[in-house]
Amino acid sequence: MAIRSGFSSRLGFVAAAAGSAVGLGNIWKFPFEVGAGGGGVFLIMYLAFCFLLCFPVMVAEIAIGRKTQRNPVGAFKVLGFPKWSIIGKLGLVSGVLILSFYNVVAGWAFGYFLEMIMGNFTIGEHFGEYIKDVVKVGAYGLIFMGTTAYIVSKGISGGIEKAAKLLMPTLVIIMLSLVAYSLTLDNAWEGIKFYLVPDISEVRLEVVYKALGQAFFSLSLGMGALITYGSYVGKNENIITSAVLITFADVGIAFIAGLMMFPLVFSQGLPPNGGPGLIFVTLPGVFGSLGGGLGIFIGSLFFLLLSFAALTSTVSLLEVPVSYVVDELDIRRTKAVWLVALIIFVVGLPSLIGNGYSAMFTNFITYLGDEKTTNFMDFVGHVANDTFLPLGGFLISMFAAYIWKKPKFYGEISKGYPGFENSIWSKYLGFGVRYLCPTILGLLFILTVLDRFFGITVIA
Ligand code: PFF
Repeated sequence: MAIRSGFSSRLGFVAAAAGSAVGLGNIWKFPFEVGAGGGGVFLIMYLAFCFLLCFPVMVAEIAIGRKTQRNPVGAFKVLGFPKWSIIGKLGLVSGVLILSFYNVVAGWAFGYFLEMIMGNFTIGEHFGEYIKDVVKVGAYGLIFMGTTAYIVSKGISGGIEKAAKLLMPTLVIIMLSLVAYSLTLDNAWEGIKFYLVPDISEVRLEVVYKALGQAFFSLSLGMGALITYGSYVGKNENIITSAVLITFADVGIAFIAGLMMFPLVFSQGLPPNGGPGLIFVTLPGVFGSLGGGLGIFIGSLFFLLLSFAALTSTVSLLEVPVSYVVDELDIRRTKAVWLVALIIFVVGLPSLIGNGYSAMFTNFITYLGDEKTTNFMDFVGHVANDTFLPLGGFLISMFAAYIWKKPKFYGEISKGYPGFENSIWSKYLGFGVRYLCPTILGLLFILTVLDRFFGITVIA
């Protein structure tokens, strides 16, 4: 059994968990999902899902982790319900899949940092060729995975905490400056309108489940990452306050990323539904327009910080399978880290080459009832983010409400929040885990699977 070193302070846990939450999901994925999901409608659904559905799941994950001090598989065994460790196993699979493609995109971001240093502002126009160059972006991905593994091998409070505390605020400052700049451009307000004013005709089932998947992905929920991080939290920590802070930090940064992106996209006359290339196509030209030296400075700093934001997320993604291997299979931490990282890098190879280089993985699958083919990376996202994470959230809420049950669940929260049981939070949490999350997450899981993978649309 590994000895848990623990976070050095309350802010340490919140910063690290927010570091896990804030990443490519907020700055790369959120804007293009909003763009594909028709703008304001997606935003509203995403916000509702984060605050109403994800919040109870987040509290449950942290409480389970802190109570058991274990990885997501071992946690359920310690609580005396070994069959429910299936939640943890599903989480391990989700984590491995997500990190496998996440690392590829992180490699793109890191490569853009180098391009910006060299003043290559036209790279956005060649994004398609850039991601096809698998030797180059593969090398960046390898560097990224290696750095992640190095940090994870140094243990919890050493690496993760320090990085998270320093870098997140800097990233926010740059983004806010870019928001201010973007609002001065032509057509900027069209972008703001698209982002903030919902167009009801855009409401489709696909938008609903994409928004749900995005909420879980962005908050790092549904796969036990917060069970793992929760296992390092002290007993006097107030779980509710922590969950509120993490949620606001994450949602706030995604919101700012949208405010930054849509004016830029509209001012360049680009379509908002540009897909995963959106930030990579749009931003270099903007940095270029700031003028040589300033453009190089801001552009390279932006992509450097984006890479760091991704790093605090990849660290948490890697920590999940590693903590499992260390605790349950009794393998030394350093060995476990490098072994797991290597396996995940290999699992990510089809995602790497499926962006134009390999025809087979670029046109990987055509779902029933769909005409479009989906590449490997999107396919993994559909399975892991949009399907497994909400399923994990469903199971975690069921477990907390009906198996672990209120006295023990609430007892754990009360340790760091003495008046909890009589607070409004306890009422909301009870309603959330018992009724709201199981019903909505369960229903949406079924509708998503039918719609996406079998082409059966029960609700249009
Ligand atoms: N929340 C991260 C992001 O938005 O970039 C991605 C992520 C990290 C998902 C950790 C899941 C996870 F366990």
